[in-house]
Amino acid sequence: MAWEDVDTGWGRQAPTFAYLFENLHWREYAALLDQTDVGTNTRYLDIACGAGLAVQLASARGAQATGLDASARLTAIAAARSPGAAVHVGDMFQLPFADASFDVATSFRGIWGNGREALREARRVVRPGGCVGLSFWGNQRRMQAYPLFAVLGQTAESERAHTGALVSISRPGVAEQLMTDAGLVPGARTTLRLHWEFPDVEVAAQALASTGPAYLAIQHLGAEVFMASARAAATGLYVEGLGSARAAATGLYVEGLGVRAEVELQLLVGVVPG
Ligand SMILES: C[S@@+](CC[C@H](N)C(=O)[O-])C[C@H]1O[C@@H](n2cnc3c(N)ncnc32)[C@H](O)[C@@H]1O
Repeated sequence: MAWEDVDTGWGRQAPTFAYLFENLHWREYAALLDQTDVGTNTRYLDIACGAGLAVQLASARGAQATGLDASARLTAIAAARSPGAAVHVGDMFQLPFADASFDVATSFRGIWGNGREALREARRVVRPGGCVGLSFWGNQRRMQAYPLFAVLGQTAESERAHTGALVSISRPGVAEQLMTDAGLVPGARTTLRLHWEFPDVEVAAQALASTGPAYLAIQHLGAEVFMASARAAATGLYVEGLGSARAAATGLYVEGLGVRAEVELQLLVGVVPG
């Protein structure tokens, strides 16, 4: 897909994605900003910045923050959230920035298994001694939220090999090798677990439907079938009555707590030699 087409999927429900989904990941942004030491006057770039929560948090730490994303509708929200930051619509494979113009670059689930060239670009724009931080999903099949990921996975057969290549980044050694190939010196991975939390099944389904991957599944299944499948996953496929052992083990809807499901992120920081 050409980068100019990314907005078709990612931008179509930008406010829903920004306010119902991106916010759930605030601990991930804080953790990687800590690991990359983003603070006062850090020249900071977030690649594939989405609706810009990381840019906003970096700005609040006093960084000179810049965000770049292919989706014009997501970057409009990023710019509204951080009026003092520079927010660009563009392609992470051809960053419109000079060599060594940042101290730190990050990408939160924006650079995947096919992202070697994007990582090379990230390394190019960061000064020697600076660093590039990545976050990506852990093994989705082992997560409590897997039923929700499985809803997103209902794409056309032709899409699935591509998706497999993307998620390969979570396998042991793959992200480290991508960084090494890009000229970075990777550190040790860390793991962060957080919960997707929605007040009810309907909001959970709407939030899921607002993501880029949902666009492909909706095209394949149709919106009604997609939403029915998302509601079913959020309710919990095996709920036999609240309080049963099986419901406790597999159901995501808990009376009084809404929909809560744990996801796992992996964080990796690479240093630009110099
Ligand atoms: C999983 S989302 C992550 C967004 C954001 N980092 C967050 O934490 O919510 C992936 C993002 O990558 C962006 N994207 C996809 N291809 C891109 C490209 N070639 N260049 C720049 N951004 C791209 C999408 O628009 C989307 O915002």
